[in-house]
Amino acid sequence: MTCLLIYNLFAFLVCIPINQRVVFEICFFVFMNTCVLQNADELSPEAFLASVEKDAKERAKRRRENKVLADALKEEGNEAFVKGDYETAILHYSQGLEKLKDMKVLYTNRAQAYIKLGDYQKALGDCDWALKCDEKCTKAYFHMGKAHLALKNYSASRECYQKILEINPKLQAQMKEHLNQVHLQEKADLQEQEAHELLDSGKDTAVTTKNLLESLSKPDQMPLFYAGGMEILTEMMKDCTERTLFRIHGGFRIISDNEVIRRCFSMTGKDVVEETICVSVLKLWQAVCSENEENQRLLMMHPDWARLVPSLLASRVLAIQQESLALLVQLAQTDNGRSLVISHLDLTRLLEALLSFLDFLDKKANTAMGLLTDLALDERFQVRFQANLPGALPALIGVLKRDPKVTNASALCQCIAIMGNLSAEPATRKHMAACEDFGDACLGFLARCEEDLDLFREITYTLLGLIMNLCLQVPFVSEVWAMEVSRRCLTLLNCQDGGILTRAAGVLSRTLSSSLNIIEEAVRTGVVKKMIKFLKTGGQTASHYAIKTLAVCTNSYHEARKEVIRLDKKFCILMKLLSSDDEILVGNAALCLGNCMEVPKVASSLLKTDLVLVLLKLAGSDSQNSAVQLNAGIALGKLCTAEPRFTAQLRELHGMEILNSTVKYIQDS
Ligand SMILES: *[C@@H]1O[C@H](CO)[C@@H](O)[C@H](O)[C@H]1NC(C)=O
Ligand SMILES: *[C@@H]1O[C@H](CO)[C@@H](O)[C@H](O)[C@H]1NC(C)=O
Ligand SMILES: *[C@@H]1O[C@H](CO)[C@@H](O)[C@H](O)[C@H]1NC(C)=O
Ligand SMILES: *[C@@H]1O[C@H](CO)[C@@H](O)[C@H](O)[C@H]1NC(C)=O
Repeated sequence: MTCLLIYNLFAFLVCIPINQRVVFEICFFVFMNTCVLQNADELSPEAFLASVEKDAKERAKRRRENKVLADALKEEGNEAFVKGDYETAILHYSQGLEKLKDMKVLYTNRAQAYIKLGDYQKALGDCDWALKCDEKCTKAYFHMGKAHLALKNYSASRECYQKILEINPKLQAQMKEHLNQVHLQEKADLQEQEAHELLDSGKDTAVTTKNLLESLSKPDQMPLFYAGGMEILTEMMKDCTERTLFRIHGGFRIISDNEVIRRCFSMTGKDVVEETICVSVLKLWQAVCSENEENQRLLMMHPDWARLVPSLLASRVLAIQQESLALLVQLAQTDNGRSLVISHLDLTRLLEALLSFLDFLDKKANTAMGLLTDLALDERFQVRFQANLPGALPALIGVLKRDPKVTNASALCQCIAIMGNLSAEPATRKHMAACEDFGDACLGFLARCEEDLDLFREITYTLLGLIMNLCLQVPFVSEVWAMEVSRRCLTLLNCQDGGILTRAAGVLSRTLSSSLNIIEEAVRTGVVKKMIKFLKTGGQTASHYAIKTLAVCTNSYHEARKEVIRLDKKFCILMKLLSSDDEILVGNAALCLGNCMEVPKVASSLLKTDLVLVLLKLAGSDSQNSAVQLNAGIALGKLCTAEPRFTAQLRELHGMEILNSTVKYIQDS
């Protein structure tokens, strides 16, 4: 509209006199400007977009610049945080947020710093902001859960961890642990409320506990004063509320800070009084920690006690040793207590101390090994054990160097069973198997056990389990070692014990392949005959090892093949195995049969059997275990090579196609 008017004016302008023109020109300019402005959205969308784009570009550029600045401030904040300077960290994070309001990591980092300073409300505020930037920010929920927990808002804390689980179900284990912490803290809180109520009600025992602790906090008394006080205190710790009273009246601090008591613990050679003090404290700890998770936590988190317990466990004073063992046994009874022991004690020293109990011939040795079993079955122990392996291995080697004659057999057996269990973990096994001393110690121990198999039957059996695990790790630490282990096991094949026989065969099925020499030796000492006997009369496990051993021997040694042919008339046993449902038996039997075809005339003697059909079925089967197909295919190949008339049989059965695809499969894999 306006522009039309302008054009009219312009036309009009041409014919007006000069002096009047000026006025009109001014008017014209006014109109012209209006025209351009109004036209931005009407007539020239390109121009409009260009200007918007330019604006956006500028904003993006500013944002990029701010991001760089904010990132730098974040780094500065993180550096301060690591140094423990949380105030400075907060300052940097805040400056970063001035640059970039929606950078969630600055909020979560600042929340973390606020938590360190105990400023939980501010931490909660920052977490809220982080969640506004990203509603799935698990870090925000994590710090929020912590802050709520510190503020004793247990339900809110739980909700945060549950929220994390909803967002990322993979964090199940970690969140379970955090939820457990919330539960424990809530429980401790309730206990403390009850304890205060009991004290307020003026109940005798509550008042006595408080008074006793006040007396014990007096410094510089005679050692026996403290011993007496602690004994009465121990008597008082009958229920959970009393134990909580001990805690809320600073019991842990009073005992731990007492100079006289500390001195008794630090003495290496202790006199009777010092011993008494140590024993009293250890008994008191048992009493106050019984079924009280918060007390357990305070004790195990105390750096002095965490450091002392393993050395007390290895003390030369029997009573101290016993009481510290009793304390640990008590702690390890619950999942929570075990977790504290495993994560706060020096694992290597704990292991050494517990293993030193094998010096006792009596029940103490079994108790210590029972405790070690409980700990070792815990996944958290296994993780820490692996991390500490180089340090922990010498203690285990020490056990294997013991004389079984002067060690409690059942305890020793349990200890080796623990090692066997630990060695089932590939990372642990790898380490053990690579350690020459460890392997040699196993071998030496096996030799000592063989001296009196009747007496050391259990230990030998358990040790063979450990050795079997070690032998899963190829290549072996040395061929000599594998040779020696094989020799020992060949000797053991002469014993009468079914369990030992089975495991000896198990070891052999893993070690024989390491050298032709040892196979020759094994065959000379009659291993084939024994394995065939296993196949006839042994159980499933024994048969597995036996057929594997035969497969290994026939694979590389001609005499072994001849032995099999001689002892397994018409391959009755091997053929029977081929029809088994057990794929390990089938696969290895096929391999063994194939190997035997390399002996002249053997294949021809089988022309009248349905061997081709049986093997073909296996080769073409949809077995789970492709090794079965492969081995059957290989056996067919060897059969046809040895006796061309089998090829004709195979053709009749349209077997070439099947074999063809199996062979192709072998080539591909
Ligand atoms: C606990 O936290 C929730 C969620 O922030 C809040 O609504 C509630 O008031 C808090 N309760 C207490 C007792 O502080
Ligand atoms: C080993 O300890 C067990 C259990 O305490 C005990 O019954 C057994 O007699 C001990 N054996 C020896 C040889 O001392
Ligand atoms: C070894 O592991 C098995 C299965 O995890 C367990 O049942 C057994 O108690 C363990 N034995 C020892 C001595 O740790
Ligand atoms: C075996 O397979 C190859 C290709 O995979 C084919 O060329 C050949 O003819 C096959 N032989 C028989 C006997 O089926």
